[in-house]
Amino acid sequence: MKKHIRYGLMLAVFNLPVIAFAGDTTEMAVEKPDFKSVTAAATSWKNQSGSTMSLDFAVDPSNPNIGIVTGSYINNAAGYACQGTPYPVTGRYYTNNLAISFNAVWSNAYANCQSVTGWTGYFAYTSSGWQIVTNWNLAYETGSGQMTIASGADTFTMTGTTTYKSLKAED
Ligand code: BTN
Repeated sequence: MKKHIRYGLMLAVFNLPVIAFAGDTTEMAVEKPDFKSVTAAATSWKNQSGSTMSLDFAVDPSNPNIGIVTGSYINNAAGYACQGTPYPVTGRYYTNNLAISFNAVWSNAYANCQSVTGWTGYFAYTSSGWQIVTNWNLAYETGSGQMTIASGADTFTMTGTTTYKSLKAED
């Protein structure tokens, strides 16, 4: 039953018709958010620590199951270095499910923290709108030159989208 509900939700997220599965007896009011509207647009996100990122999505021309995400990340989390300026973000996601993984290398024209962060998670449609729910690992060098990994969780909430408009008259 659990699995049926999970796949029912997944179909709803991908804007496919929700089919009544044999054996499902529970009536569910399923929202039908348009996942395509997320990945077809330049998007902005903010996490619980005040960090922001903008992400652009594109399907990998060599594998339609995979999307490529690029963008920039401004770290505003208290207690961390490399704050307040944009760092490149790159990653991959599935075009046929909700999993996503992306990373930032904390070196730009303003600061170099000699550290990297990888976030792994999934898109989720919630009462706050679209979110990316992640766990992260931050690899960095301690004062004594020892490499170490800090871990945590970030939830990013979508704060805006900019859908690209073609300048061609017929589109
Ligand atoms: C560093 O301090 O070495 C670089 C900045 C790391 C910021 C981390 S990445 C995970 C967590 N989420 C944020 O938005 N900021 C911190």
